[in-house]
Amino acid sequence: MSTSTNHYQSGFGNEFATEALPGVLPVGQNSPQKVARGLYAEQLSGTAFTAPRSENRRSWLYRIRPSAVHGKFVEKNHATLCGGVFDEMSPSPNQLRWNPFPVPSKACDFIDGLVTIAGNGSSDARLGMAIHLYLANRSMGDRFFYNTDGELLIVPQSGELCLRTEFGLIDVKPGEIAVIPRGVRFAVDLKEDTARGYICENYGALLRLPDLGPIGANGLANPRDFLTPVAAFEDRQGEFELIAKFSGKIWSAPIGHSPLDVVAWHGNYAPYKYDLAHFNVMNSVSFDHADPSIFTVLTSPSSLPGTANLDFVIFPPRWMVAENTFRPPWFHRNVMSEYMGLVHGQYDAKAEGFLPGGGSLHNCMSAHGPDVASFEKASNAELHPQKIDATLAFMFETRLPIRPTKLALESPQLQSNYMDCWQDFKKYFTN
Ligand code: FE2
Repeated sequence: MSTSTNHYQSGFGNEFATEALPGVLPVGQNSPQKVARGLYAEQLSGTAFTAPRSENRRSWLYRIRPSAVHGKFVEKNHATLCGGVFDEMSPSPNQLRWNPFPVPSKACDFIDGLVTIAGNGSSDARLGMAIHLYLANRSMGDRFFYNTDGELLIVPQSGELCLRTEFGLIDVKPGEIAVIPRGVRFAVDLKEDTARGYICENYGALLRLPDLGPIGANGLANPRDFLTPVAAFEDRQGEFELIAKFSGKIWSAPIGHSPLDVVAWHGNYAPYKYDLAHFNVMNSVSFDHADPSIFTVLTSPSSLPGTANLDFVIFPPRWMVAENTFRPPWFHRNVMSEYMGLVHGQYDAKAEGFLPGGGSLHNCMSAHGPDVASFEKASNAELHPQKIDATLAFMFETRLPIRPTKLALESPQLQSNYMDCWQDFKKYFTN
């Protein structure tokens, strides 16, 4: 890489322009007859050419070689990755919860260590999403990857990563997220011995900031806190590997150079990161527990107004001040399906059993809510302003039922007794 420390441009979906060497970006046109320094001009389209201007995403990349320079792809087996269609097992109305999956002792990088937990929709139909874990103990180094099926929302839980992308370098650590758009080539290096985290693969419309409505012009995730890398390139030759995920399957091709050879680029289709600590939390200041949609960081809309293909929602540190209110999440049944994960700390609706790195799944209309201990405590607490601190849970919420994989349902990490947390609710009713 041409830079040793990573630098960013601020904004969400902006028309960025960046060059690692001066004078490379063409002025006034995208594809001049000859690009400066002998580079090739190439467009990466993230939306259809004809998408409305407000939706249109594309970037122009000025690179050492065209992306088409690589060997033939052959299909490869991946034992723990499932994609495309999720029909291995019947999805269940049972509430499900998993303990954290350990990072394997055998060598595995970010791609080897992908484990698919669940998904819905279809990557080919461009709707729905998949939930993967990554469990890695080495850097990808000279292996490069791109995903045609969806954009990747990466939620680190343990271990900092360096994402080397065509667009530049992104460092991302627990408490932050990163999004790699569909088609962008990248490699993941570890900055610690091991790394573990969650990935939501979004097959649907590109993630965007939710509208704020009556909240006004400011609040929740503010655009300027999203960071996109400045251009940084590798000029390296060798016997490298280019891995593609295409229609749910893994393909591998030899490549004789690093595909991260973009010297300059401009456009509005690019990877980005966001520090969740910058989320401006809104909440009730009078009474009642607000719906968790108030904590939406990013959303992928569907064709149904207000009904997301995918919402990424967080439960960050915040003050609880609502009076005369049962403050933890209430008992509820939701037409949307909810997968929750925990980066660190303790979630306020569960006294035990929901662990950092673990996950829970409350599918469409599956009843859930606080466990007995949390209910008793919150029902009888003296209500003073109270800060929920040192915790970060999140939710991938989606309009289609979530279908767990065979691996997830047969894994020893699946808790057999999760439902027990609701069985001891007593009848208090008096007539
Ligand atoms: Fe819920």
